[in-house]
Amino acid sequence: MKGIILAGGKGSRLFPLTKITNKHLLPIYDRPMIYYPIQTLVDAGIRDILIVTGGNYAGDFLQLLGTGHQLGLANLNYTYQEGEGGIADALRLAEHFADGENVCVILGDNIIETNIREAVQEFDKQAVGAKILLKEVTDPERFGVAEILNGFVVNIVEKPKDPKSNYAVTGIYMYDATVFDKIKTLEPSQRGELEITDVNNAYIRERSLSYAFLDGWWTDAGTFDSLLRASHLVSESRKKPA
Ligand code: DAU
Repeated sequence: MKGIILAGGKGSRLFPLTKITNKHLLPIYDRPMIYYPIQTLVDAGIRDILIVTGGNYAGDFLQLLGTGHQLGLANLNYTYQEGEGGIADALRLAEHFADGENVCVILGDNIIETNIREAVQEFDKQAVGAKILLKEVTDPERFGVAEILNGFVVNIVEKPKDPKSNYAVTGIYMYDATVFDKIKTLEPSQRGELEITDVNNAYIRERSLSYAFLDGWWTDAGTFDSLLRASHLVSESRKKPA
């Protein structure tokens, strides 16, 4: 399976930190943010990766990561998203890289504690469709929220005012090759973006979306509070005996 890290967008919620760099190059404890999703994929056995980035500082990724070999990658590829048309718009750019294979997509600001290898292996056995990873949270209105009925995800709502559950859809998604056809049918949402939630709902309509719960802690790092929280969580994890 190939890996795709989405690291575009303006990071406007972190302004002025993001005025002079890309959000995903900001520090989380002792490393640049982008190191963490790379490590997540490498730990899951995925070493052929595409980074989609954008904005004024895209060149800095090349300077920081180079070939990616020092981080355990076999192949590191880069592409550039014009503007910030949304997560699904960024993913659209990976069609050529995916080349018909299954992909594991991770948002560049999602940081996790544990290994997702088991979920990746389960998806490898799943003939078609998609798989998402869920996490129970206390603030579901900040995320895509999954409604589960009789053991199936029946609907996902993006940042609902009145969430139907506490199950946040984390920014780790596995897709078969039909994901790119699904993206082509999307219309921009009210916030003017092509939404990854609409992609996942397309798989739900086909009854081909599976899910698993993520073990350990999970956080995004796109707001001042979550950026700080991410550093604390990583720092605490480092102190735990292996
Ligand atoms: O963190 C999980 C959540 O991420 C999910 O629960 C939501 O369903 C999903 O929509 C997303 O929500 P956010 O509003 O937090 O996404 P955000 O706009 O912060 O973008 C997250 C990452 O996606 C960002 O770090 C880089 C990438 N991205 C985003 C946009 C808008 C791109 O590569 N290009 C883009 O145009």
